[in-house]
Amino acid sequence: MPKITEAQVMEALSHVIEPELHKDIVTLKMIEALHISGNDVQFTIVLTTPACPLKGQIETEALAAVSRIPGVAKVNLKFDSRVPADARLISTLDIGVRNAVAVASGKGGVGKSTVATNLALSLALEGAQVGLLDADIYGPNIPLMMGVSGRPKAKGNKILPPVGHGVKLFSMGFLVDPKQPMIWRGPMLHSAIRQFLHDVDWGNLDYLIIDLPPGTGDASLSLAQSLSLSGAVIVTTPQQVAISDVVRSVGMFEQLNVPVLGVVENMSYFVAPDTGKRYDIFGHGGGQAMARDMGLPFLGEIPLESAVRAGGDAGKPIVISEPESAAAKALRAMARTVAAAISVQNLANTSPQFAPRPNLSIVY
Ligand SMILES: Nc1ncnc2c1ncn2[C@@H]1O[C@H](COP(=O)(O)OP(=O)(O)OP(=O)(O)O)[C@@H](O)[C@H]1O
Ligand SMILES: [Mg+2]
Repeated sequence: MPKITEAQVMEALSHVIEPELHKDIVTLKMIEALHISGNDVQFTIVLTTPACPLKGQIETEALAAVSRIPGVAKVNLKFDSRVPADARLISTLDIGVRNAVAVASGKGGVGKSTVATNLALSLALEGAQVGLLDADIYGPNIPLMMGVSGRPKAKGNKILPPVGHGVKLFSMGFLVDPKQPMIWRGPMLHSAIRQFLHDVDWGNLDYLIIDLPPGTGDASLSLAQSLSLSGAVIVTTPQQVAISDVVRSVGMFEQLNVPVLGVVENMSYFVAPDTGKRYDIFGHGGGQAMARDMGLPFLGEIPLESAVRAGGDAGKPIVISEPESAAAKALRAMARTVAAAISVQNLANTSPQFAPRPNLSIVY
């Protein structure tokens, strides 16, 4: 029986295409720890995100490709991930955060904070290092929605972010009495956002999710002036009045040179738990049609479910409180699509290999 060689295995794997990145996994330098012992082959595929939506497909194709090599008896495939850094972001904000995504909408109350918490948590559930920054200085909701309260501790001249469900958090709600109205002037808001980025010890994060206040106002501008965002996720509800606000929001991000990663339609429909009958309370399909018209990716429909509201109020977002619900599944799928879009963007902006995991010193 001829000896199996590394070259044969690499040749076989060079026919496996990463479906999102449209290049083969050898060219993308995704194969590591290749060992051949007798008739057994072992290797690791290093993905660009632990939230890879098409991991199953890559696994099936890689196993099939290597199994076809004459003489191979057993294939032991492991997965690992290394999230590439956004080169534009780290050139503007050198604090160890590899990617930063803002969740925004033109309108209030459409579910930005709900999407932001569940997006952060979904990425963390996949195994990513995640932070969630509440940029809603006037009406911070993240502490309540993530079930974390109390004053953060300091370490040296840095603030340690409280952790909720494995996600590092920061919010004005940790610093002030939640019942106290907050009256801020524009410049104070700007410096608060800068401090949240620079003075909080975020550590090494794969993704920092940023929950924006409604509208196209000061906070978005301050944020965009403080760092180069990897992208924005726009939340809408299906009805026309929400949609026209979204168009403005998209326009603002385009002006700020922030890529819009896609549009998610929240409160899309309601399925009555007793009858199973579906109601399109705010109409249907507006978000998808708008995304199509604007040439933006559509990130999915999240149904109106009382468990979403209850999870938010109880500090247990739906992806962990009711993981089998339709809303949780839609939110998990949305998070994978967002992670994949960021990987595609980062790899397009660098060479066709991973940017090495940056070993950044914290500068502020
Ligand atoms: N899909 C959903 N099903 C049921 N309730 C939802 C859903 N999405 C959001 N909610 C609820 O609607 C309310 C508003 O949502 P959320 O606070 O996330 O909106 P927002 O856009 O962040 O609001 P604001 O503009 O005030 O920041 C919350 O009580 C939340 O729990
Ligand atoms: Mg909010």
